[in-house]
Amino acid sequence: MNAGMRIAVLGASGMVGSRVIEEARARGHEVLALSRKPASDDPGVTPVAVDADDPDALRAALAASAADTVVVSLRTMPVDQEFLVGATRTVLDSAARLGIRVLVVGGAGALRSPGHEDLLVADDLAYVPAAVTAVAAAGVAQLRACQEHPGGDWVYLSPPALLEPGTRTGRYRRGTDTLLTGADGRSWISAEDLAVAVVDELESPGPQRHITVAAA
Ligand SMILES: NC(=O)c1ccc[n+]([C@@H]2O[C@H](COP(=O)([O-])OP(=O)(O)OC[C@H]3O[C@@H](n4cnc5c(N)ncnc54)[C@H](OP(=O)(O)O)[C@@H]3O)[C@@H](O)[C@H]2O)c1
Repeated sequence: MNAGMRIAVLGASGMVGSRVIEEARARGHEVLALSRKPASDDPGVTPVAVDADDPDALRAALAASAADTVVVSLRTMPVDQEFLVGATRTVLDSAARLGIRVLVVGGAGALRSPGHEDLLVADDLAYVPAAVTAVAAAGVAQLRACQEHPGGDWVYLSPPALLEPGTRTGRYRRGTDTLLTGADGRSWISAEDLAVAVVDELESPGPQRHITVAAA
């Protein structure tokens, strides 16, 4: 276990980012909260205002961070694949130069569909209705950007099909690149338990570069 890390969270104010920060702080890690309008009363959380659409600003924020690791949990509404991939590449470039580990919280669409190993969830209408195809495709493109990046230390965490605020149980199932479903066929986790999995992976990195989790 890797206690006392310095963790930068890009997307700090979001559903996932805010819970990762809470989990990391509860375990005694220091946090840099990066978003356009970050705020925190916690002395262990340093707010860093940065627009991830500005590569120079993002590079400068990471260079000044002295972080051990950076969690990327960015999202825009509507989805902006160019922004998402561009910001992810900028983080990967900077992090590789600075020796910072990267954990990307991406999309379920980048996983293989259970029982159809050649089919991505993004292309499986059973999981991804037409209305969210573009969101799923952006997640796939974000994973490809990681896979095509030369060198660097990254891991891409795909949530299950459904990720929403809930309660922290501290338990979850861990998989690799295939969507996880429970006995009831549901592919789900609370954002609180996803945050537990994120911080577990940061503290004890596993061997896989693409992982997923679901409620236990
Ligand atoms: N089932 C699934 O696959 C599933 C479900 C839900 C979420 N997710 C994924 O989980 C990740 C996190 O999602 P979320 O639900 O936590 O998103 P969210 O609540 O919408 O938060 C998005 C974060 O991105 C930040 N952000 C957006 N544009 C930015 C910019 N230009 N510069 C800096 N920060 C910016 C926002 O901060 P500011 O606006 O304060 O700058 C906010 O902190 C995403 O990859 C999302 O696709 C996957």
